[in-house]
Amino acid sequence: METDLFLDEVLSRVKEFLASSQTEDEIRPSDSHTSLSRTSDLQLPLEGRGLDAALDDIEQVLRHSVRTTAPGFMNPLWGGLSITSIAGELVTAATNTAMYTYEIAPIATLIESTILKRIAELAEFGTSQGTLTTGGSNGNLLGMLCARQAKFPMSSHAGVDGTKMVAFVSEESHYSFNIASNVIGIGHSNLIKVRCNEHGQMRPDALEEEIEYAIQEGRIPFAVLATSGTTVKGSFDPLREIAGVAHKYDLWMHVDAAWGGSCLFSSQYRSLMDGIELADSFCWDAHKMMGIPLICSAFIVKDAEILQTVCSNGNTAHYLYIETGENVDLGRYSLQCGRRNDALKLWLAWREIGDAGWASMVERFMQLANYLEDRVKNHPSLELMSERMWTNVCFRYVGGSSMDERNQINAELRQRLIQDGRFMVSRSTINQSIVLRSVVANRSITEASLDAFLERVISLGKDIERGLPQQ
Ligand SMILES: Cc1ncc(COP(=O)(O)O)c(C=O)c1O
Repeated sequence: METDLFLDEVLSRVKEFLASSQTEDEIRPSDSHTSLSRTSDLQLPLEGRGLDAALDDIEQVLRHSVRTTAPGFMNPLWGGLSITSIAGELVTAATNTAMYTYEIAPIATLIESTILKRIAELAEFGTSQGTLTTGGSNGNLLGMLCARQAKFPMSSHAGVDGTKMVAFVSEESHYSFNIASNVIGIGHSNLIKVRCNEHGQMRPDALEEEIEYAIQEGRIPFAVLATSGTTVKGSFDPLREIAGVAHKYDLWMHVDAAWGGSCLFSSQYRSLMDGIELADSFCWDAHKMMGIPLICSAFIVKDAEILQTVCSNGNTAHYLYIETGENVDLGRYSLQCGRRNDALKLWLAWREIGDAGWASMVERFMQLANYLEDRVKNHPSLELMSERMWTNVCFRYVGGSSMDERNQINAELRQRLIQDGRFMVSRSTINQSIVLRSVVANRSITEASLDAFLERVISLGKDIERGLPQQ
């Protein structure tokens, strides 16, 4: 088969997969790990199989993939389809390059710089620098690394004794901060979890108490890590008050806006991140609510020099960076060497719909989440399990006669929902209660798909209840 024809055939299969994802009931193939391992042909052959066989392979992959663009997909904090972004992925692969130097990625460098500048502007960060990273987890790592560098300017060169250094984060924060604590050399136990209020927001008074206590204990605070959009409840920490505390103690403030950062587009919801301009750095996943295919994530910092220092190669990369007088090579601001052009797909999508398009998308998601919340609140068999600030809707089926039984029902319900294959939501725990965490971050979701989702939850819940042993 010729290359041209092959590409046409691939595209037609991808188009068919995407179109049928909007209409197919089943969004997740039901094969178990054991049966899929047994029935699929994944062996790497001694002799090549050719392009025709590659088409069969592609069909096999599509047949056994979760349809994450389908309206029933409300599981992680991402999903849905941006067609310009998919085009961007294709062009990125076709123009295969690495983002380290302008020389090798001229237009891509300008595109990434344009995006970073615009994101910084949205947060009113003034002149700043940033980089696209491998995700919010690495954005948080960079934030902590910059904080460490700011407090201990010799650390990138001489290393640190991290045993006394402490950073502060909300008890509802993402687990990536634990990993980052390990990587930057302070260890999990030096990441202090600050108490939250009943809405899941970090309490500024509790933060100050923890900082005071740490100082009295002879420890060295260096970073306050706030969250805009927590993973489970979608809570936003009060940034302005937290910045007040961070500045009082001369601490770096980083904001994990991986999930909630998109509120900055909407004049209606921007206030959720009131005070972001007071932070030193933040990260934002365009691959979450903005629906850009993974991976697409930004880290922005006010002090460009600090980012450059933590990403310094110690002048050993003479084979890559050649002084041209212009500091335009983005590799100087990244922990990676080879790095994909993740900017293109976001740039294309942004040019397609503009700031106004992002704003209406965010507002539509909130409208749908309000709808889901109302339906949950008004149904006697359902219970909303946390106050809503963003598009996370945490709820449970109300059944059983004890806490244990209710948890058992909801755990089983979620399991059956996944086996059923029509809707996917995640399972979380809030105050020892098992909850279904559904999120609206997928452009295919409609009021009708949410109605169908709740109907399914209720009917599965009733079935499970009927199967419980009688008291
Ligand atoms: C609040 C928050 N921060 C960071 C992350 C990590 O983002 P990524 O998966 O892009 O590394 C997540 C992931 O869900 C998250 O919910």
